[in-house]
Amino acid sequence: MIELVDLSYVHMGTPDPEESARWARDIYGLEEVGRENGRVYLRGDDRNHNVCYFRGDPGDHTVGIAVADDAALEAAASHLEAGGVAVAWGDAEGAAVRRCMRYLTFRDPTGNSFDLVVRPFHSGRRFFPSRDAGIYWFNHIGLKTSDAPRDEKFWCGLFNFRTNDWIGDAPLMSFDKVHHRFALFPTDHAGVQHINFQVRETDDIMRSSYFLQDRQVRIVFGPGRHATSGARFLYFEGPDGMVFEYSCGVRMIEPEDDWRPRQFPFTNESFCVWGSRPDVPEFRE
Ligand SMILES: [Fe+2]
Repeated sequence: MIELVDLSYVHMGTPDPEESARWARDIYGLEEVGRENGRVYLRGDDRNHNVCYFRGDPGDHTVGIAVADDAALEAAASHLEAGGVAVAWGDAEGAAVRRCMRYLTFRDPTGNSFDLVVRPFHSGRRFFPSRDAGIYWFNHIGLKTSDAPRDEKFWCGLFNFRTNDWIGDAPLMSFDKVHHRFALFPTDHAGVQHINFQVRETDDIMRSSYFLQDRQVRIVFGPGRHATSGARFLYFEGPDGMVFEYSCGVRMIEPEDDWRPRQFPFTNESFCVWGSRPDVPEFRE
């Protein structure tokens, strides 16, 4: 079993890193923390970075997930290879780009690209954005899957992921107390489906819903409340059509809660108990 300890980052290709970073900073409310070799690094919490834009194919997404130390990374490599998953060890140059000590790369059965990292850099400085959207934590991602039960088995079999709820075939999975760190949404190709940062409170979500409307940002779902995690949410379109989310109040599941995963039907009501209707292909009934 590979013990994941954190969700670290998403690196994304974009035709225009400057413009994508401007949106992430001035509209979404992340803090730009550095530029190197045409890459722009941004963050929404106290860690080194959670988002990195580089000049490239907007379909090129890599998700960084962390294990505790070198021994765990070496054990993970053996475990993945024994499971028939090809791994490629990263070099010092790649580690510098990822801002971590060591890493390896692999793909899930759909073809999504992952970095398994050791000791991703921290900053030692408070997160301090130029727009106060209320963001404080890079929390979870939606991932596209071409076969949700197969990929659920991949993550829950090889890694310490467990499913906390399902909406139809879509598992909402976690490796820690957060209700979901990965949510797998069925479609026919690989990619990150949405990127979530937590905000402090419902007021932040409502304030941003007007801020975004004023700036003609396409809101694709919400404001609403998820039946599964209980989080209040707002989804909207960022650079290159990527869906970004703000949410607050995501359910935390403690070991003593004795949680059993619940099955929800794949309906609008399972995604939003307030009655908002999604304009997101992967969420549509
Ligand atoms: Fe989400």
